[in-house]
Amino acid sequence: MQRILILGERRSGLQRLLDLRATRPEWDGTAVSDPKDAERALANEQFDAVITEVESPNDDRLTFLDYLCAERPEPARLVMTNDRRSNEKLQTLKSSLGVLPNDTPIESVANLVERSIDVSALIRNNELKTLVQRIESLPPAPTVFRKLNQALVDDRSDAATVASIIGEDPALAGEVLRVVNSAAFGLRREITSIAEAVSLLGFVMVRNLATSVSVYRAAQRTNRRSALQIERIQQHSLETARIASSMASNRILADECYLAGLLHDVGKLVFITLEPGFLELVESEAERCQRPATTIEREYGFGVTHAEVGAYLLHTWGLPYPVIEAAAYHHHPETVSQTGFDTLAAVHVANRMAHDPDDPCDEYLATVGVYREAEAESLIA
Ligand SMILES: [Fe+2]
Ligand SMILES: [Fe+2]
Repeated sequence: MQRILILGERRSGLQRLLDLRATRPEWDGTAVSDPKDAERALANEQFDAVITEVESPNDDRLTFLDYLCAERPEPARLVMTNDRRSNEKLQTLKSSLGVLPNDTPIESVANLVERSIDVSALIRNNELKTLVQRIESLPPAPTVFRKLNQALVDDRSDAATVASIIGEDPALAGEVLRVVNSAAFGLRREITSIAEAVSLLGFVMVRNLATSVSVYRAAQRTNRRSALQIERIQQHSLETARIASSMASNRILADECYLAGLLHDVGKLVFITLEPGFLELVESEAERCQRPATTIEREYGFGVTHAEVGAYLLHTWGLPYPVIEAAAYHHHPETVSQTGFDTLAAVHVANRMAHDPDDPCDEYLATVGVYREAEAESLIA
């Protein structure tokens, strides 16, 4: 049985709870309209998921989300809103949230609740906790990600603001431009400034790129001997991001798929930091005994896979649920009850195609309702 807490308008919150219980009769829950009542409920009972309805950037319930993320990190957190400004503000909260529009069909809400509860459970897994305790300090969320998110919600920000934030670290700015001008982007002309990159690729895309570039740079700095290996993972991630985002039907989803693609293998960087040489051992052992590399990682290493460690890291950085879920299950999406072609599906397919462009992924695509390779273009509704 799952316990759900809904904080919303009296009538709509209650109705949503009733609708959820109609699709999942085994679920139970409470609907409240005052954030103080929600805090009290969380202090007295355990909930698996909290759904918060947010109407405007000044909504009290946004402040409740700050409390929820800081004080009650266990339940899965979903936010329902149609307000664009609130949605942007949510991106700056230092915690992972699933955000969906108010009028999302109840079956899709229930599906997302189930999936985010699974991701939360995976992140609380004991082996992962033990491993994380062994790491003296987990890489912190890139500062540039936090600063760019703040700029994203400020109306006064423009391309020059982004350029100045990234330009605070000239080496980072140079590296972002190098990536933008690399074959991975296939641009016809050379981009010579961050401001130009923002006007061509968009604010969110440049934020995502700068974030991942700074993650890889930090890994390079602490693991100089593994520089080549890290460079290979970065190239593979750029290619995965490119393929995954090309499958999305709109800009918001394309940006999400891009970020998820860029960071899906970030757990490998943790393994490299913990034990240089471990990933090579995994690869050769997987080749020798013809078993999946993730199985070898679990058995021979730290009891967890790079996918799980990566998801944990992205969770501590406060990235959105779909990005964490894509990292967690990119090798085994079949363990998630998918209702269609989504960010996880895009990253799974893109990861396989980045490793082998001839892999048609037909069998998997059929399981998410896609039957021909040609349909894999613009799949995500
Ligand atoms: Fe992977
Ligand atoms: Fe990968």
